[in-house]
Amino acid sequence: MSEEAPQFGNRRVREIYRRGMYDGEMPDFPTRFDEIREAAWENMDENARAYVHGGSGGEETFERNKDFSRYRIIPRMLRGVADRDLSVDLLGRTHAFPLMITPLGVQSLLHEEAELATTGACRELDVPFILSSLSSTSMEDAAEELGETPKWFQFYWSSDRDVARSFLDRAEDAGYDAIVLTVDAPTLGWRERLIERGYYPFLEGEGIANYLSDPAFRDRLDEPPEEDMEAAVDLFLEIFGDESLTWEDLSFVREHTDLPILIKGVLHPDDARLAIEHGADAIGVSTHGGRQVDGSISAIEALPAVAEEVDGEVPITFDSGVRRGSDAFKALALGADTVLLGRPFAYGLAMGGQAGVEWVLRNMLADLDLTMGLAGIDDVTAIDQSALRHERDL
Ligand code: FNR
Repeated sequence: MSEEAPQFGNRRVREIYRRGMYDGEMPDFPTRFDEIREAAWENMDENARAYVHGGSGGEETFERNKDFSRYRIIPRMLRGVADRDLSVDLLGRTHAFPLMITPLGVQSLLHEEAELATTGACRELDVPFILSSLSSTSMEDAAEELGETPKWFQFYWSSDRDVARSFLDRAEDAGYDAIVLTVDAPTLGWRERLIERGYYPFLEGEGIANYLSDPAFRDRLDEPPEEDMEAAVDLFLEIFGDESLTWEDLSFVREHTDLPILIKGVLHPDDARLAIEHGADAIGVSTHGGRQVDGSISAIEALPAVAEEVDGEVPITFDSGVRRGSDAFKALALGADTVLLGRPFAYGLAMGGQAGVEWVLRNMLADLDLTMGLAGIDDVTAIDQSALRHERDL
């Protein structure tokens, strides 16, 4: 059952206050991001904490991503905002909300039900979901659990072209609506939290369900993974990522899928232009959560110039650092069409499985809905730069 606007936020807080005041029931989970992370960490071991929390290098970009404070919302009054519409049209489908679950690998590190707990929450709330190539659940199983909920598949390009092609075919057959091609991770960044622990989850066979279940991948093995996991992991490590790729190689993806393609990981306006020239149907502004180039521009700093270059030609997704409704509002105002939620849902998952993800999503959507209404806007697609001012212009 989908949770519908209008007044998503008002209904949410009313329900929470009523329960507290009339039934004496406190919420099951904490509300503040830091407390949710602490609750999650109680259920995670040190390795999982290092994997999820960690940015690259000194974590400068990871930290700066979260600073949206240079942009200030200027609320407008008495504009009749009782009928708020949070829906957006994206790549051929209407999404109930301008918020999606970002592709986030190895969810088995967070909860035993892994992606199936997250997809359950998405289905319940009608929040679109993006499955990572590095998921703990196969793309077919995740799609089945999602039913009609909008779903995109994040594609990591194996250097083995047969496996790459097979992933694209499978995603289309399984009913995904779009391919998210992540271009900022031809290899993984310098992750000190993992390096100091000598920990890399894929070496224990975590997060490679799509590979283990792939016919082209299995064809390359002498023994099936069920009999020789070590060889399967070695093959995965050998073919994961391809640092030789150039924009011209996008034609390979274009040739092998009829689905729309989003290029995730764009930070420079010239790359946005190149992506469009090479056939991208959407652009994803992202720093990969500060996990790749430490010291890079933050995602919210990069967004305005990319949005100016794209100028409405294709939709833009935004992620990296979104922790609350006003962050999402600011990204939408600066040119994003939808926002991808990362660590907050991941910690919700570790904190309470599907119920934890639902808790985080409901609160995030309520916060965004209230922020939008209080800013004097009743339609999410009408949020634009006029709602914001940069601090240098105050
Ligand atoms: C990611 N991210 C990511 N992105 C992607 O395209 N494929 C992937 O498999 C993963 N895996 C992944 C794992 C973990 C643990 C994290 C934290 C992130 C990046 C993700 O999609 C998104 O860009 C960031 O999560 C956004 O940053 P915040 O908001 O989580 O800080």
